[in-house]
Amino acid sequence: MKLLKKERKLLLEGKTKKIYTSDNPCEVIIHYKDDITSFNGLKKNVIPDKGILNNEITTFIFNLLNRYGIKTHFIRKMNNREQLCHKVNMFPLEFVVRNIVAGSISKRLGIKEGTPILNPIFEIFYKNDHLKDPLINDHHAVFLNVISHKELSNIYCIISNINNKLKKFFFDRNIILVDFKMEFGKGKKDNQIFLSDEISPDTCRFWDKETMNKLDKDIFRIGLKKEKIIDVYMEVLKRLNK
Ligand code: TMP
Repeated sequence: MKLLKKERKLLLEGKTKKIYTSDNPCEVIIHYKDDITSFNGLKKNVIPDKGILNNEITTFIFNLLNRYGIKTHFIRKMNNREQLCHKVNMFPLEFVVRNIVAGSISKRLGIKEGTPILNPIFEIFYKNDHLKDPLINDHHAVFLNVISHKELSNIYCIISNINNKLKKFFFDRNIILVDFKMEFGKGKKDNQIFLSDEISPDTCRFWDKETMNKLDKDIFRIGLKKEKIIDVYMEVLKRLNK
C-alpha cells in the first residue's frame, strides 16, 4: 500500500474528489474530500468526515447497482476515503432524473416544490464551468460532439432502470428519492457505458417519507450548521444499512 501511495500521480482534482493513477493503467483511485460546494462553487465549506460518509454511501449504492447488473466504474472500496474504479472517458454531461419538483426546475418553470412528476423528467447539463453548466437538450449534446444519439438513448435506458431500482430501494427505507444526478463514461477497451462519479447526499435530493425533512446537501444550501449536515448524511447511511 505504501508503494502504491508513493507512485500514484494526481490526474485530476475536482470540487469534492481527487483522481489518482493506480498501478494498473486501466484503473484509477478516487479520493473523497471533505469539501462541499453549491451554486456552481459560489458557496464553499469543509465538513469534516463528509468524504468518508460519501465514500461509504457511494460504495453501498454502486455495489447494489452492480448486483442489479448495471455497469458501474466501481471495483472496490480501498479505505475510508478511497475507491478503486475502472478508468473511463467521461462524457462532459450531468444527467438529472426528477421524480418530484424541487430545486432548479421549480424556479425555472414556476411550479411548486413537492409537485409529483408522473413520468420522471430527464435533464442534461453541459459540464462547463465557464458557461456555468447550462441545461441543454439531446440535439445540443450531439451538436457539441460530446455524445451520439445512440449513446444518449442507451444512457436513457440505464437511468430509467437505475431510477426505478433506487426509488423502490429508498422508499423501503423511508426515503423519497426526489431527484438525483448521474455521470457516465466510456470504457477504454470496448466503449461500453459505465455509470461513474458518485451517488450520495451531495448528488441526490432525499426527503424523509414521514416528515418530508431534507436528508441531503440542501441542508448546506439553506445554511444549516456543519454538525447537522453530518448528522443527516449519517442518517442516510444508517437507513441504507437497514
Ligand atoms: P437542481 O435542482 O439544482 O438542478 O439539481 C437536481 C439534482 O441534481 C439534485 O439532486 C442535485 C443534483 N445535482 C448535482 O449533484 N450536481 C449538479 O451540478 C447539479 C446541477 C445537480
